[in-house]
Amino acid sequence: MNLVLMGLPGAGKGTQAQKIVEDFDIPHISTGDIFRAAMKNGTPMGKEAKKYIDKGELVPDEVTNGIVEERLANDDTKDGFMLDGFPRNLVQANALNKMLENKGRRLDAVINIHVEPDVLVDRLSGRFICKNCGATYHKLYNQPKVEGTCDVCGHHEFFQRDDDKPETVKNRLDVNIKLNTPLVDFYEKQGILHQIDGEQDINRVYQDVKQVLENLT
Ligand code: AP5
Ligand code: ZN
Repeated sequence: MNLVLMGLPGAGKGTQAQKIVEDFDIPHISTGDIFRAAMKNGTPMGKEAKKYIDKGELVPDEVTNGIVEERLANDDTKDGFMLDGFPRNLVQANALNKMLENKGRRLDAVINIHVEPDVLVDRLSGRFICKNCGATYHKLYNQPKVEGTCDVCGHHEFFQRDDDKPETVKNRLDVNIKLNTPLVDFYEKQGILHQIDGEQDINRVYQDVKQVLENLT
């Protein structure tokens, strides 16, 4: 199963990906996570990416495409993968098609988690993340079962992302809103787009996502 998870910032890509990997044996490849790990480790690529991420801009396509190509060359993707947050524009989408074509493969499905932009500021400003395992929570909509303890790993420390600050959120949303529609059209034309209503509660969204995935396997 070769899968892409799409959606505006805060739509719930990471939240749904976390659920998908519990039920399906598929590597989760988030370009955002790869950039954050590189920034944390202070690598040259991380330093370069930080310049853009801190402003809510996209990291240049040649950097991002290179990272994905390298990641898809890894053996663990040979039976399938789930890309989260890539592609984000048509240059990346065409590059991905080429990468897959060269391996005699293609995408099976693109899931677009649709949420109206006005809901997203609230989602991003209330998000907090486990420092140990990266599991994502929300102060109103998705609290850990035991307050202050990560459901996934039992850790007690959480953090907020730097790019969830209000000034950055606004630009992130503006940048991504412009790019989302052409990408949705691109995959709709290929007949592989699945629209999911991302404004339902998290488990209802997952039921819809799971149904799409079960029909593919
Ligand atoms: P990335 O990390 O991919 O960020 P993003 O696209 O802005 O998406 P988020 O991770 O913020 O949101 P999400 O959809 O995963 O939502 P989540 O599940 O956490 O990218 C970061 C940056 O890296 C980019 O800005 C860019 O600079 C760079 N980058 C990454 N990919 C790139 C690319 N391809 N090209 C160039 N640059 C790239 O949910 C959000 C909150 O809502 C959480 O608190 C959650 O608990 C809550 N929530 C989730 N679902 C629901 C629901 N159904 N109801 C209520 N609350 C919910
Ligand atoms: Zn955790």
